[in-house]
Amino acid sequence: MAEDLKIIEGSKEQIYLSLIPQIKGLIDGESDLVANLANITAALKEQFNWLWVGFYLVKNDELVLAPFQGPVACTRIKKGRGVCGTAWQSATTLIVDDVEKFPGHIACSSLSRSEIVVPIIRNNEVIGVLDVDSESLGHFDEADQRFLEEIISGISFAPGS
Ligand code: SME
Repeated sequence: MAEDLKIIEGSKEQIYLSLIPQIKGLIDGESDLVANLANITAALKEQFNWLWVGFYLVKNDELVLAPFQGPVACTRIKKGRGVCGTAWQSATTLIVDDVEKFPGHIACSSLSRSEIVVPIIRNNEVIGVLDVDSESLGHFDEADQRFLEEIISGISFAPGS
């Protein structure tokens, strides 16, 4: 399998429509969860060059850092804390246009200005989140939400993976 990602220029929609089948190609047929999460973050980072993109997974009632691309980040987040812990608690995607206006925002990087956090829900339970940070204010919108939720829906979290 060729491992090169095809990077395109265009509208956000065009970019996601090019990227999503490539991500599916990368993870389909691979059962290892860490390998798949690692490749998804790498593909998103390579195409969008966001400041930070990565996963946190629920372990023993905390979010614990999982594969990511970007600067080092905080390792553990409690339910209800920060944007990630709030998305976990509410089981809804959060788009934060200005992180300084989000009460309790956890500043892993002082460069982060806006953020989107998409909860990963399986069997009606949040089992993790996808977190993306941008250096620009108001960077994320409903299109990002829709396409990132689609990417997440394609990840298999089968036991033992
Ligand atoms: N800003 C997040 C913390 C995680 S980092 O951005 C990677 C939050 O408030 O939950």
